[in-house]
Amino acid sequence: MSKSPRQLAVQALAEVLPAEGGGRSLREVLARPRGELSAGDRGLFVDLCYGVCRHRRLLDHWLSAQLQKPLRASAQPVRLALWCALYELWFSARPAHAVVNAYPDLMRQLKAPWAAGLANALLRKATREDINALQASLPTAVAQSLPDWLWQQLQRDWGEQAPALAAASLLPAPLTLRVNRQQHSREQALLTLAAAGLPASASSVAPFAVTLHNAVPVHDIPGFTEGAFSVQDAVAQNPVEWLDMAPQGRVLDACAAPGGKTGQLLERFPDAEVVALDVDPQRLARVQENLDRIGLKAQLQSGDAADPSQWWDGQLFDAVLLDAPCTATGILRRQPDVKWHRRASDVPELVGLQARMLDAIWPLIRPGGCLVYATCSVLDAENADQMAAFLARTPDARADSPGSGGSIGQQWAPTTQDEDRNHDGFYCARLRKQL
Ligand SMILES: C[S@@+](CC[C@H](N)C(=O)[O-])C[C@H]1O[C@@H](n2cnc3c(N)ncnc32)[C@H](O)[C@@H]1O
Repeated sequence: MSKSPRQLAVQALAEVLPAEGGGRSLREVLARPRGELSAGDRGLFVDLCYGVCRHRRLLDHWLSAQLQKPLRASAQPVRLALWCALYELWFSARPAHAVVNAYPDLMRQLKAPWAAGLANALLRKATREDINALQASLPTAVAQSLPDWLWQQLQRDWGEQAPALAAASLLPAPLTLRVNRQQHSREQALLTLAAAGLPASASSVAPFAVTLHNAVPVHDIPGFTEGAFSVQDAVAQNPVEWLDMAPQGRVLDACAAPGGKTGQLLERFPDAEVVALDVDPQRLARVQENLDRIGLKAQLQSGDAADPSQWWDGQLFDAVLLDAPCTATGILRRQPDVKWHRRASDVPELVGLQARMLDAIWPLIRPGGCLVYATCSVLDAENADQMAAFLARTPDARADSPGSGGSIGQQWAPTTQDEDRNHDGFYCARLRKQL
């Protein structure tokens, strides 16, 4: 018998959030083909996986408070199923009676018939809970489902803005596209999308970004297979727009995979000599696939950006894009499992790696050239502090970010304000090498 979307969600979540900690990335688990699901069932399956990762701490808090004895580690599928049910009851529009009725059966499908009565009793109780009042009564880190270390860090870095940032991180992200400027203008692209029944708005934070009012599978987007559009958040389109070089310049994309920004670079500078470097050869193959779709070419190179002696041919670059590995704390809307996979100790490790890359790559830039540093992090340690420390120890570097009003770079919080300003958290800074 084929499995129900709820059963498949529990199975997928068991890989992402195993009882013993750790776990695989949600994105990787969801990318596996699940041909047996109809479009509607797939929608429910994906919604449950994201919903549980987003609200895990709140769901777990409530559940643990109801149980006289904690569930054993071996009962993880039961725990995950109960989290799915609570998520559906409190955060989805599905009717409560349908949710309450579905889960005792699911417990039997999960070969845990002992949990059917438990599910029934708990879910009836959960339907009487006022979720807004419950959240208001809890500490913010529990209500907004953040690990303590991250919430403390957000408070230190963002002060009064931290609660808004935490709340924005819980909402679903929109589908934002980059318009391929080699194929059409943004205005033409909006007309093409509208004609295909896909209304979209121009983003005010990046010149080629459009946000669809309703997400659709990418293959329903006209011209997607031919490279007319690429999926890319609006603020993440800024680093390439900030690169300042002649059209035929030589540029290094130092952490290129899966190639979103490499494609954008070539759309902006089709005559440039682009070297796309990444330490992971398998991920580098994805860069090639992305470039093939757009029909553009770069020189792909596998190697460690922090050790150019392995791969550099001795020719200086006019510009470097360093889209560095980071905590991904700015994209929790898109990758909510990151909250449970990251540890506080990852921050200094990543900061050290980013600093080693900056120091190793800077000498590869010609005098007068520029380096654009970017992360999808909202933590100062990886962004403003990282840049300040680099400038302090690098006498021939100076800050040169466009429109940053005196600060070294620009930090964006994740926001959901309006259709034209709905983007991830992100950081970008441009540095110039003295002549
Ligand atoms: C934020 S992602 C880059 C995203 C990419 N720029 C894009 O727009 O699609 C960071 C990348 O850095 C790569 N990376 C991590 N450590 C590296 C290193 N030491 N040298 C080069 N690449 C590295 C990872 O494999 C990963 O692909």
